[in-house]
Amino acid sequence: MLARILSAARRNNPQLGITGALVCRQDLYLQLIEGPADAIDALYARICEDDRHANVELLLSEVATERLFPNWAMLDDEAPSLFWSAADVAAGALEAASPEELLAPFIRLSAANPGG
Ligand SMILES: Cc1cc2nc3c(=O)[nH]c(=O)nc-3n(C[C@H](O)[C@H](O)[C@H](O)COP(=O)(O)O)c2cc1C
Repeated sequence: MLARILSAARRNNPQLGITGALVCRQDLYLQLIEGPADAIDALYARICEDDRHANVELLLSEVATERLFPNWAMLDDEAPSLFWSAADVAAGALEAASPEELLAPFIRLSAANPGG
């Protein structure tokens, strides 16, 4: 399933000017999408309708001056060092996280992929 999601992302995102990263774990997908606001809004609406997942939540939306993943249509990470355990996530840790805490795993992932 992840392979199919990534292949759609890699096919569609370049022409939309979208880059980002998708952290995949058994209990969650945590995705960072960057690009022009209207392209992001349209993609987000499409992702929300995708029945391969449930309970889509927008955790953070902000204007950025630089991309974290300029060379990745969608970088994927299946062995992320997320701070939150599955129990934390179920208990609402992501909703309670600050913007800095939400971005931290992506900043680490970006740093671990130089040229990314
Ligand atoms: C967690 C998740 C992340 C996704 N990320 C993207 C993405 O970055 N780009 C994309 O085009 N589709 C993404 N999709 C798939 C879309 O929901 C949708 O199936 C796809 O855009 C349809 O494209 P197609 O008509 O070219 O097959 C994602 C789906 C899920 C479940």
